[in-house]
Amino acid sequence: MATRANFSSKLGIILASAGSAVGLGNVWRFPTEVGENGGAAFILIYMACVVVLGLPLMVSEFVIGRHTHKNTADAYRELAPGTPWVLQGYMGVFTSWFILCYYSVVSGWTLKYLIGAVANEVTTLTDSTAYFTDFTSDPWLPVIFMVLMMLLCHQVIVRGVQNGIERYSKLMMPLLLLIIAVLVVCSFSMPGSEEGLRFLLKPDFSKIDSGVILSAMGQAFFSLSIAMGCLCTYGSYFSDDARLMKTAGSVALIDTTVAVMSGFIIFPAVFSVAEVAPDAGPGLVFITLPKVFQMAFEHVPLIGWFFAVMFYLLLLLAALTSMMSIHEPTTAFLLEHFKMERRTATWIVTLSCIIVGVLCSMSFGPLKDVRFLFGMTFFDFFDYVSAKIFLPVGGFIIALFTGWKLDRQLVRDEVTNHGMLSSALFPVFMFLIRWAAPIAIVLIFLNELGILG
Ligand code: PHE
Repeated sequence: MATRANFSSKLGIILASAGSAVGLGNVWRFPTEVGENGGAAFILIYMACVVVLGLPLMVSEFVIGRHTHKNTADAYRELAPGTPWVLQGYMGVFTSWFILCYYSVVSGWTLKYLIGAVANEVTTLTDSTAYFTDFTSDPWLPVIFMVLMMLLCHQVIVRGVQNGIERYSKLMMPLLLLIIAVLVVCSFSMPGSEEGLRFLLKPDFSKIDSGVILSAMGQAFFSLSIAMGCLCTYGSYFSDDARLMKTAGSVALIDTTVAVMSGFIIFPAVFSVAEVAPDAGPGLVFITLPKVFQMAFEHVPLIGWFFAVMFYLLLLLAALTSMMSIHEPTTAFLLEHFKMERRTATWIVTLSCIIVGVLCSMSFGPLKDVRFLFGMTFFDFFDYVSAKIFLPVGGFIIALFTGWKLDRQLVRDEVTNHGMLSSALFPVFMFLIRWAAPIAIVLIFLNELGILG
């Protein structure tokens, strides 16, 4: 039997997994939530969610993947043959495919903005809202950029685990971290930036209620790429001496640092330009920030241009490394389950996502009046179903599976590398995964469906 692909080094393991975690969720969604939900108070609650809930779930997915060294669907089939748990494996594969269909659309926007920044277009706009809506509502232009991003991602995935995912993560992630550092300096050096820093860091505990705590949990899960089959698939490429808890800790640390740093980049810059009020959601990076870059450009053209180019390059790298991790679970499944060639499997995923992605992309333009349940467009539907339904349901099942179904000794062996590592934290891990995670997820779910507060 041919040996299965794996990551060749511990650094590769950490950078590939961190590449999955660090994505659009860190750069625009986190700062928006911090701004709206009590600044530093939200950051503290978010960090607690990462440590108490995110980390145990991430370790669980690594355990399932690394123990079986199989794609997500076959991993569950091996661990619980002939039981309904197997469905979770298929659901992981499906969810990642489903997310890619709409994640690639926003990733395409980042490419358009990067090119616009290089060409000095983004820095010289008179109306950044019109620029954004004209672009996203155009029938074909955003589709072209989405397809280009899918093809870039395809080029990495088709090269396989070591030559593709690992190699490009090792190139892109250090570059991404360097850009973050440069941008924080750029943002802090803008006159009046202290105001934004104060806004971000002032802990306002009066804003914290159950809804805010639950959105911090939801954000932590999305940002750590939990329950999408990605971590389990990457885990299946880990070597037997990789330390699962330590890897999860490093990934969570990188992910949280990038999220907090993105806040440090965005808010001081936005506040230094007094006339600009921050938009929420994608508007923050595609509408508000161009106004900031434009003002910076008017003061010192080179700095404004550099700031914009670096920022959209950061966004693109973050999006691309996450796309790679969402592409791989389905590719690995087709490749191993149906014994396909990697090239064929990769093309099937790329093309099918492009076809559905066209619908998601066009839901900002020609298909904007095509509505589903609760008046959602295609894009809203994909976003809602994956982030608000698949994510909590998948997380819940993974917690129950690891905590209650899997043999405790099997889990202990994976977490401690068969007794080579300290097992001091193991009982804490088991407690969190058996009790804290399932209960918290049920609360998130009920909250997001509007049943709680
Ligand atoms: N974690 C990524 C982000 O923060 C998104 C993602 C979700 C990636 C699910 C993979 C799986 O944007």
